[in-house]
Amino acid sequence: MPTHDIVLHGATGFVGKIVADYLARHPEAGRFSWAIAGRNPEKLARVRDTAAARGTEPGVLVVQAADEESVEAMVSSAAVILNVAGPFSEYHADHIVGACARSGTHYADLSGEYWYQRLLIDEFHEQAESSGAKIVVAAGVDSIPSDLGVQFAIEQLAAKDGRARHAKSLFTSYAGSFSGGTRRSMQARKRIEQSGTYEPGFHTDSYVLAPGAQRSHDGETVSGWDSRRFDTDLRRFGNPFFMAPINTRVVRRSLALDGHLPCTYEEGISTAALLEVLWLYASRGFGYFVGAPIPMKPKSGEGLPLWLQRAGRFCVRVHVTTDDRTQAALVEVRGAGDPGYLATSKMFSEVGLSLLLDDAPARGGVLTPATALGPVLRRRLDEAEDGRFMQFRTLK
Ligand SMILES: NC(=O)c1ccc[n+]([C@@H]2O[C@H](COP(=O)([O-])OP(=O)(O)OC[C@H]3O[C@@H](n4cnc5c(N)ncnc54)[C@H](OP(=O)(O)O)[C@@H]3O)[C@@H](O)[C@H]2O)c1
Repeated sequence: MPTHDIVLHGATGFVGKIVADYLARHPEAGRFSWAIAGRNPEKLARVRDTAAARGTEPGVLVVQAADEESVEAMVSSAAVILNVAGPFSEYHADHIVGACARSGTHYADLSGEYWYQRLLIDEFHEQAESSGAKIVVAAGVDSIPSDLGVQFAIEQLAAKDGRARHAKSLFTSYAGSFSGGTRRSMQARKRIEQSGTYEPGFHTDSYVLAPGAQRSHDGETVSGWDSRRFDTDLRRFGNPFFMAPINTRVVRRSLALDGHLPCTYEEGISTAALLEVLWLYASRGFGYFVGAPIPMKPKSGEGLPLWLQRAGRFCVRVHVTTDDRTQAALVEVRGAGDPGYLATSKMFSEVGLSLLLDDAPARGGVLTPATALGPVLRRRLDEAEDGRFMQFRTLK
């Protein structure tokens, strides 16, 4: 019998502290017990004291992720593991996932490292399917808005008896910055390539997370949106988006697992969204005008200042059509707070609560947010903070 409903591993990092803060003062705090976990007892004690002052006091578990026995002990004490210690391919997240897949414990992380996600699929998908463990990867802004947005748009088209064959997403707002952990994760790909640990073909494979899936056509590139162009369906100029290589692969896994392939997918960012970020930075003198500069080379544990976390926001429009393009659906997903940290931490916490408390589809495996939780997560995000955090809307 688990002693804690939720264990937050990596709670001492930049994202971990924001997640701990959100869980500590969550309106459903009376419905779950929780603990924080990590490798440094002094740092953990500080996070625990802050959480206690904010609302509820979590338990504390000292865990060495490299040591499988230590990981087993943590996993056996939990109903749901939330892991924010990344880069996940470097901080032994596979040990945690392996223990969860064996024991049937639900798990979520914030990984965008597709080579690590593919390793989880190859090593643990079948085991998690049999044990019933939901292993949810990419449970932050990469890739919840794109993933749930595409699923929502496909549902709208199906309601008109249309079958989606082409899908595309355009971020029309994406205002924020990045943390030390994200910087390290971005550099991880280079280290991984040099290490030779993973197949070099993974980096160019648009369907790396959907092994064996029926592909749409051979020419489909990883992001799909590879140059600046005007899109007549979305009526905006779109550009290549730096997060698309992560999101498109996750969305394609969802399309594969839910039986929607073949269906093309592409993702970009609007020119207006890029100008919005420039204006946000310039109007505050990159934070110098408000006494909290945006760190350009943040270290582990560091990230964007509070003013930028609060001033940030995101919005993505998703368009799907039938093969002959006679029927279409258009939806929008928008959210308040900088996408990568404040909004991600809220989305991620709600994933944990959804895994614990909601009546989710009975399906185990290495899953995406859409295939693990889908509409129940959408409803939960829509309702969070009395509807002020995220909204899912049908536009057409
Ligand atoms: N998907 C998304 O939308 C999204 C959004 C934001 C961030 N992320 C990802 O989330 C991850 C965390 O970001 P962050 O900014 O919070 O990073 P961070 O501040 O560097 O925190 C890293 C965490 O990992 C722990 N850690 C460091 N080395 C470890 C090791 N060898 N074994 C086990 N744990 C170790 C750290 O513990 P100590 O405090 O003891 O050093 C800390 O708790 C990154 O991978 C980032 O890319 C994803």
